[in-house]
Amino acid sequence: MDVFEAVSSRYSCRAFLPTPVPEKTVRDIVERAARAPSAGNLQPWRVYAVADKRADELKALLAPRMNELPKGEGGDYRIFPDPLEEPYRTRRFSVGELLYRSIGVPRADKPARYRQYARNFEFFGAPVGLFFALPRSHGAAQWADLGGFLQTVMLLARGHGLHSCPQQAWVSWHRTVRTFLNLPDDLMIYSGMALGHADESAPINAWRSPREPLDAFASFQGFTS
Ligand SMILES: Cc1cc2nc3c(=O)[nH]c(=O)nc-3n(C[C@H](O)[C@H](O)[C@H](O)COP(=O)(O)O)c2cc1C
Repeated sequence: MDVFEAVSSRYSCRAFLPTPVPEKTVRDIVERAARAPSAGNLQPWRVYAVADKRADELKALLAPRMNELPKGEGGDYRIFPDPLEEPYRTRRFSVGELLYRSIGVPRADKPARYRQYARNFEFFGAPVGLFFALPRSHGAAQWADLGGFLQTVMLLARGHGLHSCPQQAWVSWHRTVRTFLNLPDDLMIYSGMALGHADESAPINAWRSPREPLDAFASFQGFTS
């Protein structure tokens, strides 16, 4: 698979097969991903990978709490600006509509929407979960570096025939995750990620999120060829 195919075939996969992913594959992905650039070569990322029984332990911690605390423990950081202005608000709304429509859940059916959202905390059935953390003292530049690191992980996953879903939803359970992973106090979770083999037959994997046309977000100046 070349880089063009890796980029175009990546999508946020929300239904995985239980097929295990060997530790050596995950190690390979994470080790290679550290070739991602970072300002000043700080390499601010820390990665925690959980698989199989260990991942099941985390899921089992959360499952009984889903109904009791629908919003989790509150975020460790704000994911979206509040209020979220246009055009971002509409983009966020639209992708949610596409997701729920793909599984036949109408907008008004809040319990069904919540059940699907709660699948985040089962890693959507993936056998591997990754958590990405960075020092709490770090700022916007290092957060951006972490974003690049995540994308590198997701593209390398494609190289191994795997799919992924980045999951900031885990931030809403940051206290439980912190304790479970024994995260040092000076680190904070930026995002989780589900990793595994896609269930290609699942309707939730059968749609793709839209993108703005090139000229809506980029300008090109001074080119002579
Ligand atoms: C950092 C980050 C966190 C995300 N968190 C979640 C999440 O918690 N749950 C989820 O279903 N999708 C999550 N997404 C997926 C986005 O919704 C998705 O990337 C976006 O709609 C574009 O779709 P695509 O990834 O399929 O191209 C996240 C994406 C990023 C980059």
